[in-house]
Amino acid sequence: MCLMRLTYFSTLDIDQEKHSTLSQLVDILDAARRNNSKKEITGALIFDAQYFVQILEGERDSVWQTFKRIEKDSRHSNVTLVEMALASGRCFGNWWMSYAERNLANSRQFAPFLVDNVFDPSKMLPEQILSLMINLTYLSPEIELKLSGEDIKSRYILKQPNQGRALEASS
Ligand SMILES: Cc1cc2nc3c(=O)[nH]c(=O)nc-3n(C[C@H](O)[C@H](O)[C@H](O)COP(=O)(O)O)c2cc1C
Repeated sequence: MCLMRLTYFSTLDIDQEKHSTLSQLVDILDAARRNNSKKEITGALIFDAQYFVQILEGERDSVWQTFKRIEKDSRHSNVTLVEMALASGRCFGNWWMSYAERNLANSRQFAPFLVDNVFDPSKMLPEQILSLMINLTYLSPEIELKLSGEDIKSRYILKQPNQGRALEASS
């Protein structure tokens, strides 16, 4: 298997008049985890007020086809590929799609990557994005959702790890 890691960022395009951001995030993560588990794709998604940043890792064709599908999604735009590179192992083997958003609870993880207190993935190197994603996924305390309309079910969905099916770090 040719294990690849793909990193991109995009601009949020959710029509908040029609759908709450939270319900859209839940839908996105639901679809991501359902599809990714079938294709053995693991990864992480960061959401900030303005940006999505995502890492997909898995077999080359599966990762590329998934990215091409995501690219067409109208909930975001300006999809910018940062890197698609060979990976020696998975960094997110426990997560069909880990999720974190920038908030008070994880401000320490974001701090080293902010410029004038602004999070701008276009100014980050792929390895900086990876390092931030790993810190958020493994070191952060429980995600504190600050969005209005939050409920317990949504919070659980947003933070959900693979259920008993971790993929080997070296697969
Ligand atoms: C920021 C963002 C990240 C997404 N990540 C994934 C993903 O990791 N895997 C995936 O299959 N779909 C992902 N999607 C959703 C896809 O664009 C698409 O809606 C979905 O794959 C369609 O799946 P379905 O045909 O099963 O409904 C993402 C969408 C957005 C906006």
